[in-house]
Amino acid sequence: MLSIDPLTKPPSIDLKLPGSKSITNRALVLAALAKGTSTLHRALFAEDTLAMIDCLRKLGVNIATDELNEEIVVTGCAGQLRSNGDPLWVRQSGTTARFIMPLAALAQTEVLINGDPQILKRPHGELFDVLKKMGVEIRFEGEENHLPARINGAALHVEKLHVNVEQSSQYLSALLLSAPCMPNDMALSLDGDAVSMPYLQMTLSMMNTFGASVEEVKKNQFHIRASGYKAKDYEIEPDASTASYFFATAALSKGRVKVEGLGKASIQGDIEFVDLLEQMGAEVTRNEQAIEVRGTDVLQGVHASMKNFSDTAPTLAVIAPSASTPSSVSGIGFIAYKESDRIAAVVTELQKLGIEAEDNGDGFTIQPGTVKPGIVHTYDDHRIAMAFTVLGLISNGVTLDDPECVAKTAPDFFEYVDQLRLEGDQELAILAIDGPAGSGKTSLAKRIANETGLEYLDTGAMYRSVAAKVIEEGIDPEDKELVIAIANRISIVFEGEEVFVEGDRLTDTIRSPQVNAVVSYVAANPGVRSILRRAQRSWARKRGGGVLEGRDIGTVVFPQARLKVYVTATPEERAKRRSLESGRPMEEILQEITGRDKIDSSRMDSPLSISNDALMVDSTGKTIDEVAEEILSSFHV
Ligand code: CDP
Repeated sequence: MLSIDPLTKPPSIDLKLPGSKSITNRALVLAALAKGTSTLHRALFAEDTLAMIDCLRKLGVNIATDELNEEIVVTGCAGQLRSNGDPLWVRQSGTTARFIMPLAALAQTEVLINGDPQILKRPHGELFDVLKKMGVEIRFEGEENHLPARINGAALHVEKLHVNVEQSSQYLSALLLSAPCMPNDMALSLDGDAVSMPYLQMTLSMMNTFGASVEEVKKNQFHIRASGYKAKDYEIEPDASTASYFFATAALSKGRVKVEGLGKASIQGDIEFVDLLEQMGAEVTRNEQAIEVRGTDVLQGVHASMKNFSDTAPTLAVIAPSASTPSSVSGIGFIAYKESDRIAAVVTELQKLGIEAEDNGDGFTIQPGTVKPGIVHTYDDHRIAMAFTVLGLISNGVTLDDPECVAKTAPDFFEYVDQLRLEGDQELAILAIDGPAGSGKTSLAKRIANETGLEYLDTGAMYRSVAAKVIEEGIDPEDKELVIAIANRISIVFEGEEVFVEGDRLTDTIRSPQVNAVVSYVAANPGVRSILRRAQRSWARKRGGGVLEGRDIGTVVFPQARLKVYVTATPEERAKRRSLESGRPMEEILQEITGRDKIDSSRMDSPLSISNDALMVDSTGKTIDEVAEEILSSFHV
């Protein structure tokens, strides 16, 4: 569950968004098939692209990733894919499922392709039919024309091919991407009127960049030479579909959002979404390097076909209620077969929030109206979750039942959303107290909260609560996914000094040596941090500020805090204080806290560090009163 805090001020921000999913997955395929080593810059690290990386590795491609620098280095196989025998797992990723099928055939041995339940429901009949015509043997493990399927391209040969592209153009992109590495040249004819045409253009343009020769002999007929690909240093554009949520927020809140690196010459069709915003009344500025949207006083409804940029249809749906006139979208019947039935999903959820909305089969119609508080079901569909987040930013009381599905294409989505709140968050009365284990932060925070009338939040107790549950449920603290699921599920409630987790009093348990031993491992998990950080920010927003203590409050949670304090003391003094409190031997505690400090300071995600504008306080030899006074002389509510 995630209740979305509404914006308190219109955003004004230049955003650096992560790389495009569609471009990253195409670039991965092209680089894998190419001759030589390619480096992909600003690559997206999300479930869909990790799925692709994993599948390509199982087909013998060497891929090195550097998530921190958003870089992927791919040693191309020059078209010679070789299965290591492991089944390919495409998770929930449509592009991976489709792009990998002809690639699996290129491996010329039996390869099993499987994935998460959601992808097993999505049909791939057209692509399987074309592959069969190319001599590929396909055996379905379950339902006909669905994954899981065993693909064997031992008898692979190239024919004149016809592809029907009325439901999805991903089939065609899949065939095109693999075509230059086929045994012979390929001649492809398209039947029907292609949906999502810009994605085809993207495929063709990227194939060209990686040195392929594709000729459009005449309209809807392509000739692709079997000349292979050449490695490239390739810069991936920021994701235009993800950008739509931020542009929409600007238009709705009369704010300003610029997405850097997404220029008017972008190869992503979804930039057309800003044309609709412009029609509705927003001001749009486009240049080579960026697109900027500014909201105005005018927001009128639109009637448009979104056939070419349907991924942004849910984004339009959440803007429509705020327009002065009704809006309708057509040409997108095929999005009923995406991660969810997206037309039905947006219509149902808007209706739940008191908005008049209608499913027209081919699209939807939405009336202007006022959004009521309510819980939105996300259908495990990242685009539904992200679109309704936008609605939550401009209305009161919107809650998402499962926000984590954004990880499919934008794992840090809510961090970017928090950047939209920076203007409003600057007004909060925040005192950030950070420091190593046992430096006296909690006692200080309590004391200062008392003096100032603010409330205090012990963020360490939140990490400890997750750790306590991990122990209680016998989970391996290093099992990232299971630990994240716990952080996501549990409710942590503070009542004075008491801590309740899922209703159970865990005040003493969370301070136990067992929890001390695992908490730093749990806290090094970026997924856990992101969930708890969100809760901490929300806690402060609801109160207009507060005293927050932990490890990353001044550096990451509230870098714009009114005052940042870094409290420390010698390890011996800290151990002595803890030993007096708990009655445990000092030596044992010294080992424990220095061990924790080491992990906390060296983890990748928000390590314990001193913000350069923090007030440094060494509490060695000082009383709490003395330190509190020092801080209070610099902090005013
Ligand atoms: O009370 P003590 O200083 O021993 O630790 P705490 O504040 O209760 O925090 C326990 C652990 O949670 C730390 O060792 C960190 O691993 C983690 N933590 C964190 O990573 N970030 C925070 N903001 C607070 C705590």
